[in-house]
Amino acid sequence: MASTSHQPVQGMSDIAPPDVALWQMIEQRAREVFARYRFSEVRTPVLEKLELFTHSLGDTTDVVTKEMYTLEDRGGRKLALRPEGTAGAIRYVASGGEETANARIFYMGPMFRCERPQAGRKRQFHQIGLEAVGAPNPLADAEVIALQVHLLAAWGLKGAKIRLNTIGLPEDRAAVLAGLRKAILPRLHELPEEAQQRFETNVLRLLDSKDPVVKKIIAEVPSVIEFMSASSRAYLDTVIATLKKLEIDVEIDATLVRGLDYYVHTVWEVVHGGLGAQNALSGGGRYRIQLDGKAVDGVGFAMGVERVIAALEATGVTASQFAPPPPVFIVSLGEVALNENLLLLQMLRQRGIACEMELSARKVQAQMRRADKVGAQVVVIRGDTELEKGTFVVKNMADGSQREVELPELIKLL
Ligand code: HAM
Repeated sequence: MASTSHQPVQGMSDIAPPDVALWQMIEQRAREVFARYRFSEVRTPVLEKLELFTHSLGDTTDVVTKEMYTLEDRGGRKLALRPEGTAGAIRYVASGGEETANARIFYMGPMFRCERPQAGRKRQFHQIGLEAVGAPNPLADAEVIALQVHLLAAWGLKGAKIRLNTIGLPEDRAAVLAGLRKAILPRLHELPEEAQQRFETNVLRLLDSKDPVVKKIIAEVPSVIEFMSASSRAYLDTVIATLKKLEIDVEIDATLVRGLDYYVHTVWEVVHGGLGAQNALSGGGRYRIQLDGKAVDGVGFAMGVERVIAALEATGVTASQFAPPPPVFIVSLGEVALNENLLLLQMLRQRGIACEMELSARKVQAQMRRADKVGAQVVVIRGDTELEKGTFVVKNMADGSQREVELPELIKLL
């Protein structure tokens, strides 16, 4: 029976070569884009006080009630592994780490949600996220969406779509809930039982139901936007008009709801057809988070890196396209050459050339097999004869041809 003792925890994965090359490309290009938009990286702890998440994400959300990894430390303090990055980023800003009126920060790292593992859903997953802290301003929302479109282009990801909606302000909430209830009530008996319960407990969750009966009814009742105040609708209109000016396509989707409570005004998701049921590459929006009586406003998004990778792969991108270049391999014939080749190895590396060699004088065949295995295209061979002459044999692994060169030419060649 296969041993499970070497497996990571269910729903968590090792990220290793060759796949890691794709991760590195994604992170590196994201850093380049963030720098252009003047966002700086902040690395907050993975472990935070439990109450940070219950207060900011909402204590009745699925993430908080069902999915968080919580623990008590040895002092009995209640902690949680972060299920997302916004709460920690805003805690950092509120702690005085940045100017709350105008902080621009990004983060990359692991997040934890104890969900049922399935395709596209992990218990440890990774987000690349960003928060633009500052008072509500529709232009700021549009700027962040523009950055996200830029990011997708930098990754070479085609076929992503943005769905956009508004949650309105807390002041709109009562009118939206009442309006929606009133519109659905005459058809309540048509809904499946579970949906009827939702109608009572959280009518908004009916909006993104996957049930065809619920979907049909939702499509026929007025959109939530119509129940909102004039100023909330105007806010959305300005976001849409600005995106249009920036030539960014979005689909307005009044059924879009988000699973976290901190959102106000604009919310959006980026979806991709190359993914299965879990088709959201990213979630984002404007929020207001209360921490110790202080409200912090901002707008941001987080992309799920595993899903970005799945979408890239679905469009034909592979990790091997971003693999590091193959090394030069040095083969030593005998102990004396081995010691001299150590110096050659160091000199080449210092000149920026990736190279490898065996650190014991094994048989030539064994060394050549190793060169082949690591994908070397050029092998440098040196034994007593070459040492005496001050030369190097350079073998081209593609066609098997060999030539003997002196040091200046070797360096030029490599
Ligand atoms: P979220 O929609 O909960 O938003 O997560 C953002 C993205 O993280 C999702 O679209 C998805 O790509 C990825 N993700 C979430 N859960 C999993 C999972 N179990 N396995 C794999 N990927 C997953 C947030 O987290 C907000 N903090 C985003 C935000 C930032 N809003 C404003 N600023």
